[in-house]
Amino acid sequence: MIADTRARNRRMNAFDKREPVWLFGYGSLLFKAGFNYFERRPARVRGWVRRFWQGSHDHRGTPQAPGRVLTLIEQPGGVCEGMAYRVAPAVFAPLDTREKNGYLRLALSITLDDGHEVSGLAYIAGPDNAAWLGPAPEADMAAQIATASGPSGRNRDYVLKLAEALRQLGYADAHVFGIERRLRSLAKGCAGPGGE
Ligand code: BEZ
Repeated sequence: MIADTRARNRRMNAFDKREPVWLFGYGSLLFKAGFNYFERRPARVRGWVRRFWQGSHDHRGTPQAPGRVLTLIEQPGGVCEGMAYRVAPAVFAPLDTREKNGYLRLALSITLDDGHEVSGLAYIAGPDNAAWLGPAPEADMAAQIATASGPSGRNRDYVLKLAEALRQLGYADAHVFGIERRLRSLAKGCAGPGGE
């Protein structure tokens, strides 16, 4: 079980001599980059989908009451739409620290909005990390997210900001929008779309 991914990410240095590097953002990077970049372009990765399957002990939850944050899951035929940032390799050290609770840099092929394929990186948390939660019924995920909170703020706000960022980009994501709908229902005191 990996609890701190910084050392492994330092060894994932295949792109460190290439300047610049494309970094694919699919989660909080859609609404808060927090680093300098040369350019950013709407982009997609094929064969991956975003899911709230990673636990957050250090940003949107605590070890006692983890939040749920996004990771990418491999799914044949799936597509994840996001944003590609062209960055200097120096950007990765602070990101490795920010995302140390389970995320590893993974090399993947990114399709930019003009159709060009570029090689780049994304931060992905897999089932072998200590904060991994995995799948759960949508209603259970929403209930967990509704109450979780951590040093970076409420887990609920992370989902709502993300859904808003996706909408502004013209992306539809049934997984994110489904959880968003349930969070809004829970806030109104309703049982939720499924009636559970
Ligand atoms: C992202 O927004 O792409 C992201 C998700 C998890 C960790 C780091 C970045």
